[in-house]
Amino acid sequence: MQIAEIRKIARGIVKVDELLARYTTYGVGGPADVFFEPADADDIASVITWASKNSVPCFILGGGSNLLVSDKGFRGIVIRMGKAMSYIRVDGERIIAGAGAVLAKVVSAAVDAGLTGLEGVTAVPGSVGGALVMNAGTQLGSVGDVVELVRVVTCNGELIDLTREEMDFAYRWSRLQSDKSKIAVEAVFHLKPGVKSEIVRTAERLKKKRSLSQPNGRSAGCMFKNPEGTQGAGWMIDHLGLKGMSVGDAIVSDKHANFILNTGKATASDIKALAEKVRDAVRAEFAVDLEYEVRIVGDW
Ligand code: EPU
Repeated sequence: MQIAEIRKIARGIVKVDELLARYTTYGVGGPADVFFEPADADDIASVITWASKNSVPCFILGGGSNLLVSDKGFRGIVIRMGKAMSYIRVDGERIIAGAGAVLAKVVSAAVDAGLTGLEGVTAVPGSVGGALVMNAGTQLGSVGDVVELVRVVTCNGELIDLTREEMDFAYRWSRLQSDKSKIAVEAVFHLKPGVKSEIVRTAERLKKKRSLSQPNGRSAGCMFKNPEGTQGAGWMIDHLGLKGMSVGDAIVSDKHANFILNTGKATASDIKALAEKVRDAVRAEFAVDLEYEVRIVGDW
Protein backbone atom coordinates (compact mmCIF):
# COMPACT_ATOMS: atom_id res chain seq x y z
CA MET A 1 0.00 0.00 0.00
CA GLN A 2 1.04 3.61 -0.58
CA ILE A 3 2.05 4.37 3.01
CA ALA A 4 3.98 7.51 2.02
CA GLU A 5 0.84 8.94 0.40
CA ILE A 6 -1.27 8.22 3.48
CA ARG A 7 1.34 9.84 5.72
CA LYS A 8 1.21 12.94 3.50
CA ILE A 9 -2.59 13.23 3.74
CA ALA A 10 -3.07 12.29 7.41
CA ARG A 11 -2.46 14.70 10.29
CA GLY A 12 -3.00 12.11 13.03
CA ILE A 13 -0.87 9.08 13.97
CA VAL A 14 -0.05 6.52 11.25
CA LYS A 15 1.53 3.17 12.11
CA VAL A 16 2.40 0.21 9.90
CA ASP A 17 1.66 -3.46 10.79
CA GLU A 18 0.29 -2.54 14.22
CA LEU A 19 -1.02 -5.61 16.08
CA LEU A 20 -4.76 -5.30 16.63
CA ALA A 21 -4.66 -7.67 19.63
CA ARG A 22 -3.60 -4.61 21.66
CA TYR A 23 -6.92 -2.91 20.90
CA THR A 24 -9.46 -5.70 21.40
CA THR A 25 -10.97 -6.93 24.66
CA TYR A 26 -10.37 -10.51 23.45
CA GLY A 27 -6.66 -9.70 23.19
CA VAL A 28 -6.50 -11.37 19.79
CA GLY A 29 -6.07 -10.07 16.26
CA GLY A 30 -3.18 -9.85 13.79
CA PRO A 31 -1.64 -6.75 12.20
CA ALA A 32 -3.35 -3.94 10.30
CA ASP A 33 -1.47 -2.90 7.14
CA VAL A 34 -2.05 0.71 8.19
CA PHE A 35 -3.28 1.85 11.60
CA PHE A 36 -4.49 5.44 11.76
CA GLU A 37 -5.57 7.55 14.75
CA PRO A 38 -7.19 10.68 13.32
CA ALA A 39 -6.60 14.18 14.68
CA ASP A 40 -10.24 15.19 14.05
CA ALA A 41 -13.25 14.54 11.80
CA ASP A 42 -11.69 16.37 8.82
CA ASP A 43 -8.63 14.15 9.11
CA ILE A 44 -10.91 11.08 8.83
CA ALA A 45 -12.61 12.69 5.82
CA SER A 46 -9.29 13.18 3.97
CA VAL A 47 -8.13 9.62 4.61
CA ILE A 48 -11.38 7.89 3.72
CA THR A 49 -11.80 9.96 0.57
CA TRP A 50 -8.33 8.81 -0.48
CA ALA A 51 -9.09 5.20 0.50
CA SER A 52 -12.36 5.20 -1.38
CA LYS A 53 -10.73 6.63 -4.56
CA ASN A 54 -7.97 4.01 -4.34
CA SER A 55 -10.30 1.13 -3.39
CA VAL A 56 -8.44 0.49 -0.14
CA PRO A 57 -10.69 -1.15 2.50
CA CYS A 58 -11.13 0.71 5.81
CA PHE A 59 -12.27 -0.61 9.14
CA ILE A 60 -13.30 1.61 12.05
CA LEU A 61 -12.11 0.52 15.47
CA GLY A 62 -13.78 1.88 18.58
CA GLY A 63 -13.44 0.23 21.97
CA GLY A 64 -12.67 -3.17 20.41
CA SER A 65 -15.15 -4.76 22.82
CA ASN A 66 -17.46 -6.38 20.28
CA LEU A 67 -14.91 -7.67 17.79
CA LEU A 68 -13.28 -10.93 16.82
CA VAL A 69 -10.32 -9.91 14.66
CA SER A 70 -8.62 -12.64 12.63
CA ASP A 71 -5.10 -13.81 13.52
CA LYS A 72 -4.10 -12.73 10.00
CA GLY A 73 -5.21 -9.17 10.74
CA PHE A 74 -6.68 -6.63 8.34
CA ARG A 75 -5.55 -5.78 4.79
CA GLY A 76 -6.24 -2.08 4.50
CA ILE A 77 -6.54 0.87 6.87
CA VAL A 78 -7.82 0.52 10.43
CA ILE A 79 -9.07 3.87 11.67
CA ARG A 80 -9.01 3.99 15.44
CA MET A 81 -11.10 6.61 17.17
CA GLY A 82 -8.52 7.69 19.74
CA LYS A 83 -8.11 10.52 22.22
CA ALA A 84 -8.91 13.36 19.84
CA MET A 85 -12.30 11.80 19.07
CA SER A 86 -13.16 11.01 22.70
CA TYR A 87 -14.63 14.32 23.90
CA ILE A 88 -17.85 14.55 25.96
CA ARG A 89 -19.77 17.82 26.46
CA VAL A 90 -22.97 18.39 28.41
CA ASP A 91 -25.20 21.15 27.03
CA GLY A 92 -28.49 21.47 28.92
CA GLU A 93 -30.47 18.29 28.19
CA ARG A 94 -28.04 17.19 25.50
CA ILE A 95 -24.77 15.29 25.61
CA ILE A 96 -22.44 15.65 22.66
CA ALA A 97 -19.84 12.90 22.42
CA GLY A 98 -17.11 12.00 19.95
CA ALA A 99 -17.23 8.50 18.43
CA GLY A 100 -14.20 7.44 20.44
CA ALA A 101 -15.65 8.40 23.84
CA VAL A 102 -16.11 5.47 26.23
CA LEU A 103 -19.85 4.81 26.48
CA ALA A 104 -19.66 4.29 30.26
CA LYS A 105 -18.17 7.79 30.62
CA VAL A 106 -21.09 9.25 28.67
CA VAL A 107 -23.46 7.43 31.03
CA SER A 108 -21.54 8.84 34.04
CA ALA A 109 -21.73 12.36 32.58
CA ALA A 110 -25.51 11.93 32.22
CA VAL A 111 -25.85 10.65 35.79
CA ASP A 112 -23.73 13.54 37.14
CA ALA A 113 -25.85 16.05 35.22
CA GLY A 114 -29.08 14.46 36.56
CA LEU A 115 -30.16 13.44 33.07
CA THR A 116 -32.17 10.27 32.50
CA GLY A 117 -32.44 8.02 29.42
CA LEU A 118 -29.05 6.34 29.18
CA GLU A 119 -29.18 4.18 32.34
CA GLY A 120 -30.16 1.16 30.19
CA VAL A 121 -26.66 1.03 28.75
CA THR A 122 -24.89 1.24 32.12
CA ALA A 123 -22.07 -1.31 32.20
CA VAL A 124 -22.31 -1.98 28.47
CA PRO A 125 -18.70 -1.86 27.31
CA GLY A 126 -17.51 -0.03 24.23
CA SER A 127 -17.23 3.33 22.54
CA VAL A 128 -19.93 5.70 21.33
CA GLY A 129 -19.18 4.88 17.67
CA GLY A 130 -19.43 1.15 18.26
CA ALA A 131 -22.60 1.61 20.30
CA LEU A 132 -24.20 3.58 17.44
CA VAL A 133 -23.31 0.96 14.83
CA MET A 134 -24.57 -1.88 17.05
CA ASN A 135 -27.41 0.04 18.73
CA ALA A 136 -25.89 -1.35 21.94
CA GLY A 137 -28.23 -1.88 24.84
CA THR A 138 -29.95 -4.10 27.33
CA GLN A 139 -33.55 -5.08 28.00
CA LEU A 140 -33.93 -1.62 29.61
CA GLY A 141 -33.08 0.35 26.52
CA SER A 142 -30.60 0.97 23.72
CA VAL A 143 -28.54 3.99 22.69
CA GLY A 144 -30.75 4.53 19.63
CA ASP A 145 -33.67 5.40 21.96
CA VAL A 146 -32.04 8.68 22.98
CA VAL A 147 -30.04 9.63 19.90
CA GLU A 148 -31.05 12.96 18.38
CA LEU A 149 -28.39 13.25 15.69
CA VAL A 150 -25.40 11.31 14.44
CA ARG A 151 -22.71 13.23 12.58
CA VAL A 152 -21.09 11.09 9.90
CA VAL A 153 -18.25 11.50 7.44
CA THR A 154 -19.09 10.13 4.00
CA CYS A 155 -16.59 8.51 1.66
CA ASN A 156 -16.73 11.70 -0.43
CA GLY A 157 -15.38 13.58 2.56
CA GLU A 158 -18.65 15.35 3.46
CA LEU A 159 -19.83 15.83 7.04
CA ILE A 160 -23.57 15.26 7.38
CA ASP A 161 -26.04 14.82 10.24
CA LEU A 162 -28.40 11.85 10.32
CA THR A 163 -31.53 11.97 12.46
CA ARG A 164 -32.59 9.06 14.67
CA GLU A 165 -35.13 8.04 12.00
CA GLU A 166 -32.46 8.09 9.30
CA MET A 167 -30.26 5.82 11.45
CA ASP A 168 -32.85 2.97 11.15
CA PHE A 169 -32.17 1.68 14.66
CA ALA A 170 -33.47 -1.82 15.47
CA TYR A 171 -32.37 -4.69 17.75
CA ARG A 172 -28.54 -4.56 17.63
CA TRP A 173 -28.85 -2.89 14.24
CA SER A 174 -28.40 0.51 12.62
CA ARG A 175 -28.04 1.77 9.08
CA LEU A 176 -24.27 2.05 9.56
CA GLN A 177 -24.02 -1.76 9.36
CA SER A 178 -25.25 -1.88 5.77
CA ASP A 179 -24.28 1.59 4.54
CA LYS A 180 -20.49 1.34 4.61
CA SER A 181 -20.08 4.76 2.98
CA LYS A 182 -20.65 6.55 6.29
CA ILE A 183 -18.54 6.73 9.46
CA ALA A 184 -20.01 8.05 12.70
CA VAL A 185 -17.82 10.74 14.23
CA GLU A 186 -20.13 12.31 16.83
CA ALA A 187 -23.48 11.73 18.52
CA VAL A 188 -25.94 14.09 20.14
CA PHE A 189 -28.01 12.38 22.84
CA HIS A 190 -31.16 14.20 23.95
CA LEU A 191 -32.03 13.18 27.51
CA LYS A 192 -34.59 14.25 30.10
CA PRO A 193 -34.04 15.87 33.49
CA GLY A 194 -34.58 13.25 36.21
CA VAL A 195 -34.22 12.71 39.93
CA LYS A 196 -30.53 12.13 40.43
CA SER A 197 -30.87 9.63 43.30
CA GLU A 198 -33.24 7.51 41.19
CA ILE A 199 -30.93 7.60 38.17
CA VAL A 200 -28.00 6.52 40.35
CA ARG A 201 -30.09 3.70 41.89
CA THR A 202 -31.14 2.33 38.48
CA ALA A 203 -27.56 2.50 37.19
CA GLU A 204 -26.23 0.69 40.28
CA ARG A 205 -28.94 -1.99 40.04
CA LEU A 206 -28.05 -2.67 36.40
CA LYS A 207 -24.33 -2.88 37.15
CA LYS A 208 -25.02 -5.40 39.90
CA LYS A 209 -27.39 -7.43 37.73
CA ARG A 210 -24.79 -7.62 34.97
CA SER A 211 -22.00 -8.68 37.31
CA LEU A 212 -24.24 -11.44 38.72
CA SER A 213 -25.18 -12.89 35.34
CA GLN A 214 -22.17 -12.18 33.11
CA PRO A 215 -18.52 -13.19 33.37
CA ASN A 216 -15.59 -10.80 33.91
CA GLY A 217 -12.89 -12.43 31.80
CA ARG A 218 -11.69 -11.53 28.31
CA SER A 219 -14.63 -11.70 25.91
CA ALA A 220 -16.55 -9.63 23.39
CA GLY A 221 -19.84 -9.81 25.30
CA CYS A 222 -22.61 -11.95 23.88
CA MET A 223 -21.34 -13.95 20.92
CA PHE A 224 -24.71 -14.45 19.19
CA LYS A 225 -27.89 -12.43 18.74
CA ASN A 226 -31.02 -13.71 20.43
CA PRO A 227 -33.07 -15.26 17.59
CA GLU A 228 -36.70 -14.19 17.55
CA GLY A 229 -39.17 -16.71 18.90
CA THR A 230 -36.61 -18.53 21.07
CA GLN A 231 -35.71 -18.30 24.77
CA GLY A 232 -32.39 -16.73 23.78
CA ALA A 233 -29.03 -17.91 22.51
CA GLY A 234 -27.65 -18.26 26.05
CA TRP A 235 -30.56 -20.45 27.09
CA MET A 236 -30.22 -22.78 24.09
CA ILE A 237 -26.45 -23.18 24.51
CA ASP A 238 -26.87 -23.80 28.25
CA HIS A 239 -29.70 -26.28 27.61
CA LEU A 240 -27.36 -28.29 25.36
CA GLY A 241 -24.88 -28.55 28.23
CA LEU A 242 -22.17 -26.70 26.34
CA LYS A 243 -20.90 -24.56 29.23
CA GLY A 244 -17.23 -25.35 29.70
CA MET A 245 -16.73 -26.67 26.15
CA SER A 246 -13.37 -25.47 24.84
CA VAL A 247 -11.01 -25.18 21.90
CA GLY A 248 -7.50 -24.35 23.08
CA ASP A 249 -7.85 -21.62 25.69
CA ALA A 250 -11.24 -20.52 24.33
CA ILE A 251 -14.07 -21.70 26.57
CA VAL A 252 -17.86 -21.34 26.77
CA SER A 253 -18.45 -19.40 30.01
CA ASP A 254 -19.88 -21.27 32.99
CA LYS A 255 -21.65 -18.10 34.08
CA HIS A 256 -23.38 -17.13 30.81
CA ALA A 257 -23.45 -19.60 27.94
CA ASN A 258 -23.58 -16.89 25.24
CA PHE A 259 -20.10 -15.68 26.25
CA ILE A 260 -16.93 -17.29 24.90
CA LEU A 261 -13.90 -16.39 27.01
CA ASN A 262 -10.22 -16.22 26.18
CA THR A 263 -8.82 -17.76 29.35
CA GLY A 264 -5.17 -17.50 28.31
CA LYS A 265 -3.52 -17.80 24.94
CA ALA A 266 -6.56 -18.49 22.75
CA THR A 267 -6.16 -17.42 19.13
CA ALA A 268 -8.91 -15.84 17.06
CA SER A 269 -9.13 -19.17 15.20
CA ASP A 270 -9.69 -21.07 18.48
CA ILE A 271 -12.51 -18.70 19.43
CA LYS A 272 -14.09 -18.90 15.97
CA ALA A 273 -13.78 -22.72 15.90
CA LEU A 274 -15.52 -22.97 19.28
CA ALA A 275 -18.26 -20.56 18.19
CA GLU A 276 -18.85 -22.66 15.06
CA LYS A 277 -19.09 -25.84 17.18
CA VAL A 278 -21.73 -24.10 19.29
CA ARG A 279 -23.62 -23.03 16.14
CA ASP A 280 -23.52 -26.58 14.77
CA ALA A 281 -24.91 -28.00 18.01
CA VAL A 282 -27.70 -25.40 18.18
CA ARG A 283 -28.58 -26.00 14.52
CA ALA A 284 -28.73 -29.78 15.07
CA GLU A 285 -30.93 -29.58 18.18
CA PHE A 286 -33.11 -26.51 17.61
CA ALA A 287 -32.94 -26.02 13.80
CA VAL A 288 -31.90 -22.43 14.48
CA ASP A 289 -29.02 -20.66 12.70
CA LEU A 290 -27.37 -18.45 15.30
CA GLU A 291 -26.28 -15.11 13.90
CA TYR A 292 -23.10 -13.51 15.23
CA GLU A 293 -23.65 -10.46 17.39
CA VAL A 294 -19.86 -10.02 17.67
CA ARG A 295 -18.40 -8.48 14.49
CA ILE A 296 -16.05 -10.87 12.70
CA VAL A 297 -13.24 -8.84 11.12
CA GLY A 298 -10.32 -9.41 8.75
CA ASP A 299 -8.96 -12.25 6.63
CA TRP A 300 -9.84 -15.78 7.77
N1 EPU B 1 -29.83 -18.16 30.14
C1 EPU B 1 -29.54 -19.45 30.46
N2 EPU B 1 -28.24 -19.82 30.59
C2 EPU B 1 -27.22 -18.94 30.39
C3 EPU B 1 -27.52 -17.61 30.04
C4 EPU B 1 -28.83 -17.24 29.93
O1 EPU B 1 -30.41 -20.27 30.65
O2 EPU B 1 -26.07 -19.36 30.52
C5 EPU B 1 -31.23 -17.76 30.05
C6 EPU B 1 -31.60 -16.80 31.16
O3 EPU B 1 -31.98 -17.48 32.32
C7 EPU B 1 -32.73 -16.04 30.54
C8 EPU B 1 -32.36 -15.98 29.06
O4 EPU B 1 -31.42 -17.04 28.84
O5 EPU B 1 -33.94 -16.73 30.66
C9 EPU B 1 -31.77 -14.64 28.69
O6 EPU B 1 -30.56 -14.40 29.41
P1 EPU B 1 -30.14 -12.98 30.02
O7 EPU B 1 -31.23 -12.41 30.82
O8 EPU B 1 -28.81 -13.14 30.63
O9 EPU B 1 -30.02 -12.03 28.80
P2 EPU B 1 -29.49 -12.29 27.34
O10 EPU B 1 -30.68 -12.25 26.45
O11 EPU B 1 -28.62 -13.48 27.26
C10 EPU B 1 -29.18 -9.79 26.67
C11 EPU B 1 -28.15 -9.11 25.79
C12 EPU B 1 -26.95 -8.71 26.64
C13 EPU B 1 -27.41 -7.82 27.78
C14 EPU B 1 -28.44 -8.62 28.61
C15 EPU B 1 -28.98 -7.82 29.79
C16 EPU B 1 -28.18 -10.06 23.54
C17 EPU B 1 -27.58 -11.04 22.61
N3 EPU B 1 -27.69 -10.04 24.76
O12 EPU B 1 -28.59 -11.01 27.10
O13 EPU B 1 -26.07 -7.98 25.80
O14 EPU B 1 -26.31 -7.44 28.59
O15 EPU B 1 -29.53 -8.99 27.77
O16 EPU B 1 -29.89 -6.88 29.38
O17 EPU B 1 -29.08 -9.31 23.13
C18 EPU B 1 -24.12 -7.96 24.41
O18 EPU B 1 -24.76 -7.22 23.66
O19 EPU B 1 -22.96 -8.31 24.15
C19 EPU B 1 -24.77 -8.46 25.60
C20 EPU B 1 -24.15 -9.27 26.43
